[in-house]
Amino acid sequence: DSALSMAMERTYIMIKPDGVQRGIVGNIVSRFETKGYKLSAMKTKMASKELLDQHYKDLVEKPFFPKLREYMMSGPVVCMVWEGKEAVTTGRKMLGATNPLASEPGTIRGDFCIEVGRNICHGSDSVENAEREIGLWFGEGEVLDWDSHSKDWIY
Ligand code: TYD
Repeated sequence: DSALSMAMERTYIMIKPDGVQRGIVGNIVSRFETKGYKLSAMKTKMASKELLDQHYKDLVEKPFFPKLREYMMSGPVVCMVWEGKEAVTTGRKMLGATNPLASEPGTIRGDFCIEVGRNICHGSDSVENAEREIGLWFGEGEVLDWDSHSKDWIY
């Protein structure tokens, strides 16, 4: 049964402070739900400097990093884990390109923003990073393994 044998992936999707403040949370959640992904965890959180340094560990030396960190600490973020077939790659497609001006209409960034420094959302760029980021943002027991019966309806 392909539905049972297929590798399910998890991705870490985060709505940045501008997405929360502009009231786009529901729209973003709705896109992942209706696509067919399963919501395994969700919470609001104020990001700390230390957490952001770890999350963006490969970017801390970049000239834009201080501004990025300030923006990410300017209000609550929404942290989510979405699970399903090729969730990492497809999640990135749903977000759109890093620079919203290069994001296709129909993507989250393509539909809602203009500036790279205010690009609404984050999505893991590899399975390895997804697992790392889920471990950073969520504690033990916060990510649920529940049966959405998706194999009957979605796969
Ligand atoms: P990056 O990991 O390269 O992009 P993505 O979020 O698409 O994986 O960069 C992380 C964030 O840093 C990006 O979403 C927005 C911000 N950023 C800037 O503010 N300026 C820049 O020039 C770049 C490349 C990123």
